[in-house]
Amino acid sequence: MFIDAALTPPDIDELRSRDLSGTVCVAFDVLRATSCMITGFAHGMDGAIPVSTIKEALAEKATRPDAMLGGERYGERIEGFDIGNSPFEYRALAGRTVITTTTNGTLALKACVNAAHTFAAALLNLDATAEAVRRLQPDRVLLLCAGTFRKAALEDIFAAGALAAKLEGKYSDEAYTTLSVWNQYQHDALHLLQISQNGRVLTQNGRAEEIVWCAQTSIYDLVASMKNGVVTLSA
Ligand code: MLT
Repeated sequence: MFIDAALTPPDIDELRSRDLSGTVCVAFDVLRATSCMITGFAHGMDGAIPVSTIKEALAEKATRPDAMLGGERYGERIEGFDIGNSPFEYRALAGRTVITTTTNGTLALKACVNAAHTFAAALLNLDATAEAVRRLQPDRVLLLCAGTFRKAALEDIFAAGALAAKLEGKYSDEAYTTLSVWNQYQHDALHLLQISQNGRVLTQNGRAEEIVWCAQTSIYDLVASMKNGVVTLSA
């Protein structure tokens, strides 16, 4: 197994021209898009449809009137949308499908629509995701760190490293980078999330409890996969 990582949004952009048909992708947006999805599935959510723009979200909603609209811009709910991008909002979506657009997380998922298999993952379901990747026995694994705006996000690199540490194979330099961040902070995920740029902004915006939530590691034994553009709970 060759384990690689896309560390920044520009790295993720480049994937659009890459053949991912033999690659298993795992997308992380720990603060907060993929943590929201995992929280939603743990509380009975049916599905999440990641889209890139507000316009796309509204067009998708026109074809699925029962779906909810979710997402954020600058961390806050988009005007006219049903929910924002807080994992706490995702605890009340049993039986619902959410069309969601966020600054980075949904873009990372969209970048791997053509992959052999795509997982949406967070610290919340780390062990279960690692086990699901191992079971597929892929030749290539690509860990996507969704980042923040056009830059890397420490918490996504940390989570990718935590997963990389649970896989066996050859690592790219990028994957080794994730491993070294994980090695340094593995005993204090919460501290890492708090000192990250996204963590500091969320704290300033009165969302410190959401960071505590997203730092919980492997509390959910569930796996979320994307097929045909829809993220659902894997059987
Ligand atoms: C993103 O997609 O960049 C994040 O999920 C942003 C956020 O949660 O505020």
